[in-house]
Amino acid sequence: PAPSATDPWRPVAHLTADKNWLNDPNGLVHHDGTYHAFYQYNPRGNSWGNMSWGHSTSTDLVHWEQQPVALEASPEEEIFSGCIVMDQNNASGLGSAENPPMVALYTSAYGRNGALSEGAQAQSVAFSLDNGTTWQKYQGNPVLNLAPTNNNFRDPKITWYEPGRYWVMTTVVADAQVVKLFKSTDLLHWDYLSDFSGVGAQGGLWEVPELVLMDVEDSTAKKWVMLLSINPGGIAGGSGMQYFVGEFDGTRFTAENAAAPDAPLSESQWLDHGADYYAANSISGAPGDKPVLLGWMGNWDYAEHVPTTPWRGSMAIPRELTLVRGERRFEVRSAISAAARQTLERGDVKSKNLTVGSSDQDLGEDFTGRAQLIELEMDLTSSREAGVILRQSADANTGLRISYDKETRTVKVDRSRAGTTNFSEKFSPYHAVSLPPSGSDGSVRLEILLDSSSVEVFAQDGAAVISDTFFPDWDATGSSVFSVDGDTEFTVRMRAL
Ligand code: FRU
Repeated sequence: PAPSATDPWRPVAHLTADKNWLNDPNGLVHHDGTYHAFYQYNPRGNSWGNMSWGHSTSTDLVHWEQQPVALEASPEEEIFSGCIVMDQNNASGLGSAENPPMVALYTSAYGRNGALSEGAQAQSVAFSLDNGTTWQKYQGNPVLNLAPTNNNFRDPKITWYEPGRYWVMTTVVADAQVVKLFKSTDLLHWDYLSDFSGVGAQGGLWEVPELVLMDVEDSTAKKWVMLLSINPGGIAGGSGMQYFVGEFDGTRFTAENAAAPDAPLSESQWLDHGADYYAANSISGAPGDKPVLLGWMGNWDYAEHVPTTPWRGSMAIPRELTLVRGERRFEVRSAISAAARQTLERGDVKSKNLTVGSSDQDLGEDFTGRAQLIELEMDLTSSREAGVILRQSADANTGLRISYDKETRTVKVDRSRAGTTNFSEKFSPYHAVSLPPSGSDGSVRLEILLDSSSVEVFAQDGAAVISDTFFPDWDATGSSVFSVDGDTEFTVRMRAL
């Protein structure tokens, strides 16, 4: 569906379900030229419940087509988060050599009369022999349970460990803040390896862990990176994602230079500094050498109250991660994935250079819009703060403000006057991240992906990202730029989406 005055917040470049609630992406896999995204989905309503795996497919990571529900909730079992891999060699025996199975590992959340007691969570297998279209549950489910402590044991995600030639699964015991690692050669029998715990933010549930192997940029070295969602306790309040860089020896993952538990939040490393980026995991088999992540643009603080209908919840733009050696430690940089970028950059570019003083400058007719890919370069040599206002109303009273302050060295996204905010008291007004300007001249470069109800700001070539949902008025389509305490030089490039 396209956005309209009656569905003003429907994204044009992000995955949503045609109708009903969605949260975490699950089972992300690239196979035979098609990207598959499965996700936490309620087939019967617009809030969390009846957890099933919805399914959408895409060839460009921007436009998605919804498919029939893949795994549907029953009174005995809801289908929580998990992952999918192509079992190329049919190690599971669930397919054949000629037709290897697509294998899903998911969390069974048991109801009454389920295989385990009500409320228990354990890991189960399902498989598809027709490229993800239809799914069957494995007879021997669950394949992994922690009896007698089966509460909050969930979110399996699998990585191939080449030196040992086995699969490694990360899971969490969410309320104990522990990641548990297991290994398997057939995806059905899992042996315990180790626990990962005791570092990073502890003040919430640990969810959706994943171990990814990454090349270190400009070097032949590789590092293992643990991605981990936490809720509440995220950097922007509520749900957020931390990462840890370290080594994995086939048994144990050890984080290097990770913040001690309950160290100031800024000491932890965060994948995103906005309020709406959670439960991201990588697309198995995605082309290229870098992990490509899809994340949910939501926050458990208010996701169930956002004012969209008949759908609720969308995914962020797929992101490619790069690992660089920073001054003190390794750092992850995020960028719009190359595949998605190809589509997003298809349209004509409008560009403008301008010097802005104390009065805001409207960018004019050519730069209006509801969904845009924007490059913004600002030279703050002779000013203190500068930025852009998007989705601005005609009277200029409301709009989304994105700015950089040279003195405090912060990028800030302010959604407090950008439309509807009164659906939840927890809908936080603004989010910020501190980043040095480039060089001595005080230049800042922002790439901004604006969609009907979200913004993703990639600052300084992805050194930090702020992803936020917001719910602007349909008629507010203006764009302007501003400067504080002196003149700012702007270069603005915009493509309508
Ligand atoms: C994360 C999460 C997962 C769980 C799923 C349930 O957002 O809570 O831990 O598997 O959502 O929908």
